Amino acid sequence: MSSTPTKIGKYEILDTIGSGAMGTVYLGVDRNINRQVAIKTAHNNTEYLQDAAERFVQEARLLARCNHPNIVTILDFGQQQNLAYMVMEYIDGPNLQQWLKQNKKLPLKLIINLFVQLLKALHTAHTNGIIHRDLKPENILVKTPHSLKLTDFGIARGNDQSNMTQLGITMGTPKYMAPEQMFGTDEIGPHTDVYALFVLLYHLLAKLRNPTNYDAMPLAQIDQLAKHNQFNPELLVPKALHDFLYKGLNPGVADRYPNMAAVGKALKAVIATLKNTLKDQPQTADSTSGIFTTGTVITQNEMVWHVEDDVFAEMRADLADLIGPMADFILTSALKNSQSHDQLVMNVAAQLDHPGNKEAFIDRWRK
Ligand SMILES: Nc1ncnc2c1ncn2[C@@H]1O[C@H](COP(=O)(O)OP(=O)(O)OP(=O)(O)O)[C@@H](O)[C@H]1O
Ligand SMILES: [Mg+2]
Repeated sequence: MSSTPTKIGKYEILDTIGSGAMGTVYLGVDRNINRQVAIKTAHNNTEYLQDAAERFVQEARLLARCNHPNIVTILDFGQQQNLAYMVMEYIDGPNLQQWLKQNKKLPLKLIINLFVQLLKALHTAHTNGIIHRDLKPENILVKTPHSLKLTDFGIARGNDQSNMTQLGITMGTPKYMAPEQMFGTDEIGPHTDVYALFVLLYHLLAKLRNPTNYDAMPLAQIDQLAKHNQFNPELLVPKALHDFLYKGLNPGVADRYPNMAAVGKALKAVIATLKNTLKDQPQTADSTSGIFTTGTVITQNEMVWHVEDDVFAEMRADLADLIGPMADFILTSALKNSQSHDQLVMNVAAQLDHPGNKEAFIDRWRK
């Protein structure tokens, strides 16, 4: 084991964040602009690792092609002696695997919101010709629950490049791997990431009934259940959601959703049937972390609308300036009946008795 470097390129190393098969992820800082960054490294000093290092360069190129709020942003790439490194925005939060362990119970509304963020991220990757191929909770970073960041495109492949992963070993993570990826039964494509996304959804939903039930189901078992359209009876989700899940987890490529757009379309229909269930759901998860301050509201046009954490906090502070301690109550109840930013503003304004306050609030916040 080599010790932690003090510097990589122009970046000062502060800490080690994670380590994987082919390298380490460090917390670093760019002193020029005092920005924290995450630096993923790969050694290329042996023949075997040479291939991994090539994949690493590939990963950086693929990431650079994807510009999306739910995909981690790449900032730089470099080489220092035998060390190739990739500099990314630093996400100050756990990965989804760690986060799921801390936050045992998740309301359905939040589960759908997490799902939609990943759906959008993968849709962007696919639109850029990139199949992720290793979607799993460890590769998803939780900046906040409303700001997930997909990462680790290490085994991803763009349409336009060749056989970087033809090492004679199957890469990916068995529990999340679609049969065509595991056994080579079919072409890999957007549908392969669809499968992994639904395995993740399955695990999230399983936590509805039994919060500690995470990562419990091996692939073969899911396949068996999916084949018989019979999921774990503990997973008592509404029928529309159950059917949605079944189709996404279908082992047969032809019977699965072909891509993320198809998943999004189907999800919209599911959400329409769930509207009443979701309306009564609490806005907050039973977490002590204090990060669930925002609400998620389903609308017809935008699949999931939510207030960004910082907007919410600012609005709350502004309202508290105007009306004092009632601010929290008014904002939270207005949020429950809002399906867009402007509707939220008008719902809050409707609660303000003083005309001056009403106008000031609308002026400041209506888009
Ligand atoms: N940009 C980042 N900000 C904060 N933490 C990160 C960041 N990137 C990675 N991490 C942490 O490091 C862990 C490993 O990162 P990543 O999944 O990219 O590498 P890996 O699994 O070692 O890679 P590979 O599978 O390609 O060998 C993540 O699960 C996460 O906890
Ligand atoms: Mg990883």
